[in-house]
Amino acid sequence: ELRENTTVIVLGASGDLAKKKTFPALFGLHRNGFLPKDCRIVGYARTVMNGEDYLKRISQYIKTPTDEIKEQLNDFLSRCSYVSGQYDKDESFQDLRAHLEDLEHGRSNNHRLFYMALPPSVFKTVSDHLKKNCYPERGIARLIVEKPFGKDLQSSRDLQKALEPNWKEEEIFRIDHYLGKEMVKNLLILRFGNEFFGATWNRNHIDNVQITFKEPFGTEGRGGYFDDFGIIRDVMQNHLLQVLTIIAMERPISFSAEDIRDEKVRVLRGIPAIEPKNVIIGQYSKSLDGSKPGYLDDDTVPPNSRCPTFCALVVYIKNERWDGVPFILKAGKALNEQKTEIRIQFKDVTSGIFKDIPRNELVIRVQPNESVYIKMNSKLPGLSMQTAVTELDLTYRRRFSDLKIPEAYEALILDALKGDHSNFVRDDELDASWRIFTPLLHYLDANKEIVPMEYPYGSRGPAVLDDFTASYGYKFNDPA
Ligand code: BG6
Repeated sequence: ELRENTTVIVLGASGDLAKKKTFPALFGLHRNGFLPKDCRIVGYARTVMNGEDYLKRISQYIKTPTDEIKEQLNDFLSRCSYVSGQYDKDESFQDLRAHLEDLEHGRSNNHRLFYMALPPSVFKTVSDHLKKNCYPERGIARLIVEKPFGKDLQSSRDLQKALEPNWKEEEIFRIDHYLGKEMVKNLLILRFGNEFFGATWNRNHIDNVQITFKEPFGTEGRGGYFDDFGIIRDVMQNHLLQVLTIIAMERPISFSAEDIRDEKVRVLRGIPAIEPKNVIIGQYSKSLDGSKPGYLDDDTVPPNSRCPTFCALVVYIKNERWDGVPFILKAGKALNEQKTEIRIQFKDVTSGIFKDIPRNELVIRVQPNESVYIKMNSKLPGLSMQTAVTELDLTYRRRFSDLKIPEAYEALILDALKGDHSNFVRDDELDASWRIFTPLLHYLDANKEIVPMEYPYGSRGPAVLDDFTASYGYKFNDPA
């Protein structure tokens, strides 16, 4: 439930994440009546500015296409205030505490939700200071943290250890924003709420699964961060693996956060580390018409960087349900389109009456244009027995045209306010996911002679991609 007497404190309030995601999401919640009535929102960052300038700045983060929304924004701003301070000084955090106490008017029971929209370098010091100087005396404290959660298993454990003395697991909310996406949240319902999916959801009927993430833009000035991480750490170890986990997990005993997360951990533990032979990596070069820069043309990227901006790799799950079924994960920047989708390809129907009839596919489009459709063979109407591939199509825009799909961050911040951990990453889950990726990442870091394959900005990825997916059994019998 939502608690009155709650303050949300956004640390890193002038940073990129706060601007693009946190404040717009808080505003979305405000506008739709989801924030507790008296909920205050305090920004904290190093930039020195007065309250008025701060409110002006937040207003720029939020789009106000109508007068009604402008009005709502003014209302929202009346909840907001700002404290500037350092990330490593007691006095600064004492200022923050004094400000919080002011807003709390001497009430005895106050809840504080700390949202760390901060770079990993200050993660430890800020969480220490929050505990020491700003932890509420009586109410509930919660800490939202954002990726990157380390760069490999060891560094992720180090980060965990840094939090442990001060913050209990039940107080920590690790965001993987893919878990807040409407279609990702729908996966459990699709799978476990439909008998016909449940019955075929295994190695006897499913030939291969592809989870694809494509973006039509490159690093565009964000190369400094990106080059340190690469596409595998940036989106595969977290976002795509989360999707895989929910596709593959067993039915949880209930929808409670711990029951769901227990099953997620269990399936992750059945996944051996990814083998380098099941991986291809790529890096984008200039677009064919020369109008878009290559990765190495980005000034924030070190010259000769071998950082992958594209990767396709295969994960196997060693359990009774999935043994032998390849889960092909593909992710890339600077490709031909924006698309995140899950494509489950079923096995060939028994041969005999049909020759080369296309396979069934279940496609779950996470974004854009959320939809679920099944590719199905049907008789082409007419006086022959010719078949055609058709679709059973649930496109959200058509079926749910009057319902708004919430932003992932709105859903997740609301969950954190309610104290629901279902869509956040648990510590053992994080460990299990790094264990799957760490040997591969170390192998790529150590073998600098492995040069990513070039692909032009705006293309579908490296030329070998289709042969790669085909070699794991994917049949392009009906290119979508
Ligand atoms: C972030 C990555 O976690 O996810 C970005 O750091 C990526 O590189 C983003 O662009 C994708 O999120 P979405 O919601 O736009 O698919």
